[in-house]
Amino acid sequence: MGLLDGKCGLIVGIANDRSYAWHIAKAIHDHGGTCAYAHIPGEKNERRTSKAVEKIHGDARMYSCDAGSDEDLDALFANYAKDHERLDFLVHSIAFADREWLQPGMFAKTPRKAYLDAIDISAYTLSAMSGRAQEQMAKNGGGSIMAMSYYGAEKVVPGYNVMGVAKSCLESTARYLAFELGEQNIRVNTMSGGFLRTLASSAVGGTDEMEAAAKQKAPLRRLVEGADVGKTAVYLASDLSSGVTGENIYVDCGINTLGV
Ligand SMILES: NC(=O)c1ccc[n+]([C@@H]2O[C@H](COP(=O)([O-])OP(=O)(O)OC[C@H]3O[C@@H](n4cnc5c(N)ncnc54)[C@H](O)[C@@H]3O)[C@@H](O)[C@H]2O)c1
Repeated sequence: MGLLDGKCGLIVGIANDRSYAWHIAKAIHDHGGTCAYAHIPGEKNERRTSKAVEKIHGDARMYSCDAGSDEDLDALFANYAKDHERLDFLVHSIAFADREWLQPGMFAKTPRKAYLDAIDISAYTLSAMSGRAQEQMAKNGGGSIMAMSYYGAEKVVPGYNVMGVAKSCLESTARYLAFELGEQNIRVNTMSGGFLRTLASSAVGGTDEMEAAAKQKAPLRRLVEGADVGKTAVYLASDLSSGVTGENIYVDCGINTLGV
């Protein structure tokens, strides 16, 4: 018997089989959960996401959605509700910032639009999705919403820049959502994942140093793997975490615990 048997939900953020969202989907599927997926619009993006999802299971439901568009978000949640009776979990694993400003020494120069776009796509969308998921989740007695964060939300990681600001906003957004949606037994948490080589992380300057430091210093003496985050996502989606909400859970091999 799987921990997530009978549970069904939506995963947003698979670009390919290296994405954190892919590892989350794989773990959820392996534990009996049913997943549907959203990808950014465009044939090429749909193909890329489908190809990755096919490595987990066939016959997946896929929806197109630019999270920066309210119309797309409305359509995503309306179509999901048409096709599925339950929404037990929602995975938000998306972020965006123009890579030009994700280089050491560029934070103070970040233009207003680039700053606001990063917060819009990387943080506001958690609220926008949660508000649209709320009714369907509540109908079946609640649910679990989770989003991906990073240590740069709390401490300066050179080069992470405006994305660090957006992650602080994301973590705070999750806490306010947890309070408001908790009344309907909807839990909202963030996972602070360690450095993983993905399309998104390749946009950040200085990642070789980040990776080397993580490997050398982490209490577990290794880099985090996507599967580590996948397993924590299973815990968050399952009833094992029934009393956990508004939390930020580190899945980084312990690197955040170090003072030096
Ligand atoms: N890779 C890391 O080291 C790391 C560490 C901690 C947290 N994270 C976070 O994990 C999450 C997933 O990133 P990843 O590293 O797996 O990279 P990724 O590139 O595989 O995933 C990022 C996803 O965001 C999606 N996205 C971007 N703009 C979008 C938009 N407007 N609408 C809809 N989707 C959009 C992309 O299509 C992509 O699927 C992000 O929130 C990222 O900040 C990554």
